[in-house]
Amino acid sequence: MRVAIANDHTGLGLKRILKQEIESKGHTVVDYGTNSTEIADYPIYGKRAADALINGEADRAVLICGTGFGISLAANKTLGIRCVVCSEPYTALLSRRHNNSNALALGARVVGSELAKMIVGVWLDGEFEGDRHARRMEMIEEIEKNAWRQR
Ligand code: RB5
Repeated sequence: MRVAIANDHTGLGLKRILKQEIESKGHTVVDYGTNSTEIADYPIYGKRAADALINGEADRAVLICGTGFGISLAANKTLGIRCVVCSEPYTALLSRRHNNSNALALGARVVGSELAKMIVGVWLDGEFEGDRHARRMEMIEEIEKNAWRQR
């Protein structure tokens, strides 16, 4: 899989660790920055990774900021992004099986690197189960599309 990765300044250290981890599992990592320790605005990087998913440059995205929440908000504003914030593996796995999440956001100030590796591992391996879950995801897509039409 091609995995987009993006982060603000708080996520740089964890990003470096996760890049290695993801590559060690045989995936290709595409890095959308930041690679600087200067203070960086997470919406820029969340949007870059979201665009990469929608344009087909990547199959999944891993996003990192201090809490994971800010960068997930930014990514989720793009139509078609289903970004989950996780600090434990159970939600990460179920977000794949039941919600077909295509982006995972982590808080570099919340999770340690070993836990983050475990979360990313189960999330990358998780498969969408379809069936009733597909129906529910279609319902959510419909809500999303209507919200855009109302703008
Ligand atoms: C940066 O200080 C911090 O606000 C950011 O990394 C993120 O946690 C926001 O949601």
